[in-house]
Amino acid sequence: MALTYDNRNSDTARLGVGPMAIEESLEQLQALKERARLGGGVDRIEAQHERGKLTARERIDALLDPGTFEEIDALAHDWEDNGVRYYGDAVVTGWGKLSGRTVCIYAQDFTVFGGSLGEVVGTKISKLMDMAMKTGVPVIGLNDSGGARIQEGVASLAGYGDIFYRNVQASGVIPQISVIMGPCAGGAVYSPALTDFIFMVEKTSQMFLTGPDVIASVTGEITTVEELGGATSHVSKSGVAHFSSPDETDCLEEVRRLISYLPSNNMDDPPFEETGDPVDRRLDDLLSVVPSDAGVQYDVRDVIERVVDNGEFMEVHEYFAPNIVVGFSRVGGHPVGLVANQPLYLAGVLDIDSSRKAARFVRFCDAFNIPVVTLVDTSGFLPGVSQEYGGIISHGAKLVYAYAAATVPKITVILRKAFGGAYDAMGSKHLGADVNYAWPNAAIAVMAGSQAVNIISRREIQSADDPEEERKRLVEEYRERLEHPYIAAAKGYIDDVIDPRDTRIKIAHALELLRSKSVPVNPKKHGNIPL
Ligand code: HXC
Repeated sequence: MALTYDNRNSDTARLGVGPMAIEESLEQLQALKERARLGGGVDRIEAQHERGKLTARERIDALLDPGTFEEIDALAHDWEDNGVRYYGDAVVTGWGKLSGRTVCIYAQDFTVFGGSLGEVVGTKISKLMDMAMKTGVPVIGLNDSGGARIQEGVASLAGYGDIFYRNVQASGVIPQISVIMGPCAGGAVYSPALTDFIFMVEKTSQMFLTGPDVIASVTGEITTVEELGGATSHVSKSGVAHFSSPDETDCLEEVRRLISYLPSNNMDDPPFEETGDPVDRRLDDLLSVVPSDAGVQYDVRDVIERVVDNGEFMEVHEYFAPNIVVGFSRVGGHPVGLVANQPLYLAGVLDIDSSRKAARFVRFCDAFNIPVVTLVDTSGFLPGVSQEYGGIISHGAKLVYAYAAATVPKITVILRKAFGGAYDAMGSKHLGADVNYAWPNAAIAVMAGSQAVNIISRREIQSADDPEEERKRLVEEYRERLEHPYIAAAKGYIDDVIDPRDTRIKIAHALELLRSKSVPVNPKKHGNIPL
């Protein structure tokens, strides 16, 4: 069959009907597959390339191991026809290998009706998600779509609803990764938002509920698609997206990297990888990395990179709430999730955004059997009217809840400061952490001495001949009496005070012990996390 690309003819209506020689039917099949492969046609493929975007199939090829993609439903189409027939419709679905491990994948095809989602697309994605859940493999969605297919009305909305339902059923069962590589607008954004991680590409991807025109007419605010819903906005301001990349190739490489830390499902162990980095490596220069003066900043990533295997750390949400650092790494070849206060920003305080960020990360690690290693150096929760009005009470409680509910191995090391509620919230023994350590100069108390004396010794200071001298003396006395790790050690709240240079060794040994940690089955349906 000669094939010039025109998906709008109707000659194919008779295809597949009646007896045919096998050669002829194979030829016909080839022709149909070719039509599916061309999506919306060569002109639209060119237009896609001109925008600096790959096509759906090119993206899948770039992400998966070569030659491993098994496409399904390439022959699906809208039976109503309407004189327009796009084989496969506006999404490519199937499975393949990613670094040797099987994943299910779908890629929306912007060349067909702008990648919009109607009945066929919705059914294809839902079917793929069911397959991923049945087989226990991650599902990766490459999004590039104008949203609900307007012509299909409620069938489009039903398609989204069916996907949302599956996103929720799959949550905590298989890792779900969304990659935004074009527009993602309207209610369509809720599927990525229900998944575990969102990647975006700078300048060519946007996410928003309503675009700039609607906003201008409703609120009078003037904005652009990029400013409103571009990668930079979502990785730094809203925190909706976790990763951004300068281009699609880099983005897909990052997806591969993330998958390397994740188990295929919640019953699997995270993938061990021989890293060649000995666990008994002492961190001789760590003493110079963390200044002993609690007021001096440092980058906690310098600690993380020394502690983990070969300094390799995949930071999640790098640009959002930078006062806490979260991400994946390996210790002794086994994946771990790291949560660390970042003294470089806002002195590492816990605020609304950092609490939300860390809580969600801990929940993910817990769902997928990834041990959580927490490095604590924080002066506490951020005080302030805007924080209170913004609901720091509820958001801070999310972090407490996440740690307390997590049953994966939890190891916590207090590096320098653990004051107030933050001591409790940051993976304390009281929230069920398994192994807790502190460095010898760590300050653990309700608050720092400089604040505490103003409350408990106000009268003494005021009546002193030299109030400032008296204040200093009382702060010093408080430090000696209350602001050190040995009270917590005496009470067993921390298991040991350790030489900072042994931090990696101690964490590795604890992880080894906790690999056989067993957790009693909890019969309750679910708790009521302060969402
Ligand atoms: C049907 C659509 C479509 C849609 C785009 N197309 N969006 N067809 N339904 N939602 C078609 C166009 O008609 C066009 O067809 C082709 O896709 C490419 O679109 P262009 O507009 O030419 O491309 P571009 O200029 O790059 O603009 C892309 C866009 C724009 C920003 C996505 O198309 C757009 O604003 N689309 C509508 C977005 C929207 O409002 N969607 C509904 C959101 S509400 P031809 O044949 O000309 O190539 C929603 C509700 C979900 O999604 C609810 C779930 C609960």
